[in-house]
Amino acid sequence: MSKKLLLDKIGIEGIKGFEVYRREGGYKSVEKAFKMQPNDIVEEVKKSGLRGRGGAGFPTGMKWSFLAKPEGVARYLVCNADESEPGTFKDRYLMEFIPHLLIEGMIVSSYTLGSKISYIYIRGEYDWITDILENAIEEARQNGFLGKNILDSGFDCEIYVHRGAGAYICGEETALLESLEGKRGLPRIKPPFPAVKGVWGSPTVVNNVETIAAIVPIINEGGEAYSKIGVGRSTGTKLISACGNINKPGVYEIDMTISVEEFIFSDEYCGGIPNGKRLKACIPGGSSVPILPANLLLKTAKGETRLMNYESLADGGFVTGSMMGSGGFIVLDEDQCVVRHTLTLARFYHHESCGQCSPCREGTGWMEKVFTKIENGKGEMKDIDLLWDIQRKIEGNTICPLGDAAAWPVAAAIRHFRDEFEWHVLNPEECLKRNYGLAHY
Ligand code: NAI
Ligand code: SF4
Repeated sequence: MSKKLLLDKIGIEGIKGFEVYRREGGYKSVEKAFKMQPNDIVEEVKKSGLRGRGGAGFPTGMKWSFLAKPEGVARYLVCNADESEPGTFKDRYLMEFIPHLLIEGMIVSSYTLGSKISYIYIRGEYDWITDILENAIEEARQNGFLGKNILDSGFDCEIYVHRGAGAYICGEETALLESLEGKRGLPRIKPPFPAVKGVWGSPTVVNNVETIAAIVPIINEGGEAYSKIGVGRSTGTKLISACGNINKPGVYEIDMTISVEEFIFSDEYCGGIPNGKRLKACIPGGSSVPILPANLLLKTAKGETRLMNYESLADGGFVTGSMMGSGGFIVLDEDQCVVRHTLTLARFYHHESCGQCSPCREGTGWMEKVFTKIENGKGEMKDIDLLWDIQRKIEGNTICPLGDAAAWPVAAAIRHFRDEFEWHVLNPEECLKRNYGLAHY
């Protein structure tokens, strides 16, 4: 198998359309899957070691095998395309430039799970991609890959694209299901997990765009071949969206054996930091995961080379490690202010909190206020400890992971860059001089 499994065909003229996609080998996995029993496909996916690419990294084959199958009750597949994690834009890229890969993966996954009606829940801001996907679905239907009795298999399937309305929280799987049902996107308490009680109260599998696309090469080449790419429990390839202070922002498909250093500095990927600046820090997996300073980013606390994979990025836990998360890789050079950066995130999470649980609802707003005070040169030393206390009280005490996502960046910023917070407190005039018009408290 080649290193590129998902983006290998991007660049071929006309690949967005059915005809060229099919000519290039597209939809072969559907033909192959229909000759297999659904349980055997689940086993292939388990063998592949594929882990959910939305952020949590939960084993996909295991999630599929958890799907309840009560007699006479419909089952659903829902693709989570509500990509909203700051710094993350890899699903957008995949859907925009090779939409049939997602549709192909959706058909195979729907067949495997017994979902005759499947949904793609897409973030509202991706309106032009909704059109691209609907066009791809229509082309697939016209060519006999959707609708009734697909390829004479006896399997019927329809895919509907459902647009969100701009709320980050609707990317949380249970809020997404509420929204899909036409209600306000409020996360549900788990368990029950969607695999048991999902959309319309029926067993539902929710998978990320990249996860569903990865089913195509797994079926084509076999789970074992897929599992041989990568290292340890980080099998297959991973899409990374890279942004921030780098020469070549964009989406890269990586083999998870490469080092973070190679990813940032080699011309094949990010191409280094512009203007000869030094690397200061990086958030390796989207805004919810802990920031890592340069020294811990390139080497783990044990002195080992840090690799771009689930285990290596998490090595050291949250004290000296971070997470692979959604693959949103944000690089900060030496000129960036970690306090300002974390304030931006605090404001984001406060704005996006659904307000159901008080630690998140109150805590995110409180953190934003304290951050703004510090950034505006009005902070006191005790405010740094206050921020630490607030985030501690949010983490683990909320219905959904948004609370943790709001707390972790703050904890990591204080842990690794406390001196920068103290600098703000000790240099109020300097803070005011570089005030960019933030609200005062
Ligand atoms: P999670 O760890 O709660 O769940 C992972 C998945 O496994 C879910 O689908 C869950 O239903 C399933 N699962 C877990 N235990 C199960 C069981 N016993 N039985 C059946 N199913 C089970 O994490 P979650 O909430 O799905 O994702 C959080 C992550 O999402 C964060 O780490 C963050 O990195 C990421 N994220 C990604 C965004 C994006 O735009 N891609 C946006 C925001 C967050
Ligand atoms: Fe809503 Fe925040 Fe509670 Fe999640 S943690 S349910 S976003 S209040």
